[in-house]
Formats: sequence, C-alpha cells, structure tokens
Amino acid sequence: MKIAFYDAKPYETPAFKSLCEEKGIEISFYDFKLNADTASLAAGCDAVCVFVNDDVNAEVIDVLHSLGVKAVALRCAGYNNVDVKHAYGKLHVVHVPAYSPYAVAEHAMALLLTSIRRIHKAYIRTRDFNFSLAGLVGFDLHGKTAGVIGTGKIGKIFAGICRGFGMRVIAYDKFPSAESGLEYMPLDDLLRTADVISLHCPLTDETAHMIDRAAIAKMKKGVVILNTSRGKLIDTEALIDGIKERKVGAACLDVYEEEADIFFNDNSGHIMDDDTLARLISMPNVIVTSHQAFLTEEALANIAATTVQNVIDLFSESGVCENELCYRCGNIEQCRSCRNKKCF
Ligand code: NAI
Repeated sequence: MKIAFYDAKPYETPAFKSLCEEKGIEISFYDFKLNADTASLAAGCDAVCVFVNDDVNAEVIDVLHSLGVKAVALRCAGYNNVDVKHAYGKLHVVHVPAYSPYAVAEHAMALLLTSIRRIHKAYIRTRDFNFSLAGLVGFDLHGKTAGVIGTGKIGKIFAGICRGFGMRVIAYDKFPSAESGLEYMPLDDLLRTADVISLHCPLTDETAHMIDRAAIAKMKKGVVILNTSRGKLIDTEALIDGIKERKVGAACLDVYEEEADIFFNDNSGHIMDDDTLARLISMPNVIVTSHQAFLTEEALANIAATTVQNVIDLFSESGVCENELCYRCGNIEQCRSCRNKKCF
C-alpha cells in the first residue's frame, strides 16, 4: 500500500513514518498542499493523506480518481475542505473523528484565561522588567455565564471545564444531547445571556457566518468570543466592527476564515497581505493562535494511529472502515448501518 501525505509538518511526520514502517506501508511526505497542480504526485498511490487546509474540491477529486487513487484520509476531524458529495462513488473519505477533544477544549480555556487576565501583556512586560499593573485588570470567571455553541465531544468537555471554574453553562446545539445535563436554550437567548461564547460546532452551509452582525448585536456588551472550531463560523469584518464599537470585549481565535494560505507557515519575514488579519492582530483584546488547539503529544499520536488504521481497514478484505464519511445517506458520519456496512 502507498500513501501520498500532503502538507507535511516536522512535528507530525515521525509518528506516521514509524507506524507506516511497522505496517509495511510506503509513504511519501510532501511539504506542500494538495491541489489540482500537486494531485498528480499521487500517481501510483492508493490514498492521499490531507489536513484541514488542503482543498479537496471536485477538480482535485477527479484528478485523483483518474490516477487510480481510491481514498482520501483526513488526519483531522473536520471535513469541510472535502467535497464529500463529489467524492461519493469515486473516492472513499475517512477522517479522525476524535483525537483529543481535551486538547481543543483546554486550549479554548487557555485562550480565555490569557485574554481576560491579560497574561499575553504581562508576559511581554515582565520580560522587559516592567512590573507595572496598569491596564491589566481582569475579571473573575466564577459566577459568569459561558455559552457553548455545539455540544459534541469538545463542547461538552469545555462545558465541564467552565463548570469547574464555577461558571453557569448554557448551551445551544441543533441536536441537543438529552443525557448531557446541559441547560439548552435557543441560540438567540444564549447570545443575549452569555458573558463568554465559545464555538464548538462544525462548519456547514448552515453554520457559516453564524456569528454575524445580527448575532453580535444581540450579545451582551463586553462579551468574550472564543473560536477554536472553524474560522468561517464568524464574519470577521462584523467581529472587527463589534470590537471597534466596544460591544465585543475580547476575541480569542484559533482559526480564521482566510487561514488556508497563512496558518501553519512562518510568514515573519514577509509583509502581511491580509489587512483583516493584520487589523485583528493589532488589537490589544484579540488573541490569535494558528490553528494550534489540537497540538498535543496525545493528539498527534492518536491522529497517526487512527489515520493509518483507517487506511488499513479501507483496504482490508471487508473494506469496512468505521470512520468513513458518506454523502449518499445524508448521515455523513454514520451511514454504515443503512447500507450494508460499506459506503460504496
Ligand atoms: P462533534 O461532531 O463531536 O460535535 C459537533 C456538535 O455540533 C454536535 O453536537 C452537533 O450536533 C453540533 N452541531 C451541528 N450542526 C450544528 C448547528 N447548525 N448549530 C449548532 N450545533 C450544531 O465535533 P467535535 O469533535 O466536538 O469538534 C467540533 C469542531 O471543532 C469540529 O467540527 C472542528 O471544526 C473543530 N476542531 C478544531 C480543532 C482545532 O485544532 N482548532 C481540532 C479539532 C476539531
């Protein structure tokens, strides 16, 4: 079996390399993204392995299909960058549904604490022997209300962390989980009530720009917005205006809607072309991390193990992989029960 691994980064390749050696899988690492120009390098491979910013659109899928590639193995949970509908019948698509929901939820809380206790400012000050406290006044989380949008694996853990801080947790989910014990309410009520709003739902046509001007208008003055999910959940221009109008007290962003060509790369020697991102980064109450929430040792090990197992399962005699995504039945993540345990 042979895999072409796109957008390879030094922190993730060792685990994949040793696992593939162990399982007798040939793997080629490319440090550039998969797109229509680079797809041809997958010739002779059974599968391509991609990450969040590889654009697996219809054109790329057709090129891969014509080359005889049979599968796209996402080494992440989100699959908004893959045209799953177009892939149906051509390429099997597998993902890693959970690698460490704790990593992401804990990063969301790290961002929140950093922001509201001004740790990012204090760190720079003390390194310059400036021990002044002026401008560093924060607020207690205890007694405040956290609004969690999307209460799946990560959202539930984040809710638990917030409870540990003595916060009231309110939640909105399109498919509320009855056994979670969470206090669900309509989205508008959550927006009006929460002091901190954290996004943990997937990016879909329905959720794109769910935090727009109208949503921000409903929020409490001084609200802190956390996004560790997907950048396009927030209309960034609306967010910037909300911050300038002093409506939004702070924003903590691990993702950004135009991150694809920027994040994961060292651009420190270049002029930043993206004025919107430059404006965000210039604001004292905005913290940006570059899609780093998943990046723990535990998560990297789980990602490699699940991805390699996904590919092995797909090419096994039964061809059944429990992490296969399917468009056909409309139940994209759990379709096997309705179609004889295989997607196509
Ligand atoms: P999950 O699938 O366990 O939970 C997602 C939740 O969102 C579900 O409860 C679902 O019912 C809900 N949902 C679906 N559509 C919705 C809608 N229209 N409105 C409100 N809620 C809706 O997913 P998980 O593992 O908790 O991950 C959540 C997201 O976190 C992923 O979709 C991914 O985009 C992001 N993520 C970010 C990472 C990072 O490094 N920053 C790493 C891993 C995931």
